[in-house]
Amino acid sequence: MRFLSFEGLDGSGKSTLIEGLKAELERRKIKVQVTREPGGTPLAEEIRNLILRPEGGEAPVAATEILLYQASRAQHVAKVIAPALALGEWVLCDRFSESTVAFQCFARGLDRGEVNRLNRFAEQGLRPELVVYLDLSVDASRARQNRRAEKDSARSLDRIEKEADAFHERVREGFLAQVKEEPERWFVLDADLSPSDLLAKTVSELSRRGWFEGIGS
Ligand code: TMP
Repeated sequence: MRFLSFEGLDGSGKSTLIEGLKAELERRKIKVQVTREPGGTPLAEEIRNLILRPEGGEAPVAATEILLYQASRAQHVAKVIAPALALGEWVLCDRFSESTVAFQCFARGLDRGEVNRLNRFAEQGLRPELVVYLDLSVDASRARQNRRAEKDSARSLDRIEKEADAFHERVREGFLAQVKEEPERWFVLDADLSPSDLLAKTVSELSRRGWFEGIGS
């Protein structure tokens, strides 16, 4: 049983890496639960829509926004993450509390102590053992978003993606600050690498940590 989360700016390649790692783990006969935040349960997905809808609704103030992320997290931990870990499965989660520190504290400006306290409350004792962080510049993130929008004209930017570049620069600083605080818990990847290199590096990191011992190769 292992709990991993994946962090990075939008367009950093988290989803592709998670899908690739899931396939690789399943090849090794490991049971894997892939999930995401905000969201991951029917109620939490409804909360996600409330948080991210681009227009047509009242925008949440910063305090409301963080409480919505935490409401989604509490439901998700209780209904999906804790039960999967209890069954011995591996959980690969696209974003978790480290996003709240980067977005709501570093970028939005909420107090770090308050953010930590709310994170610990919603996590109910569960924290990712390893945070895989795909580091990408804000310019590259924007370029990837634009390319996606060209390919899929129905896709519009969500409320957070619409924030100014300065906001996203602070998000990136927030991730890099957390890497410095707990270097052993974070695995940093250069998001400019190819998807296959990102996967290979992640698998070798898990192997270096001895996580495949007794599981087969
Ligand atoms: P996603 O698009 O990667 O699924 O994430 C949804 C957005 O929500 C993304 O812009 C990051 C943001 N977010 C926060 O601001 N705080 C959080 O706690 C989480 C989990 C995500």
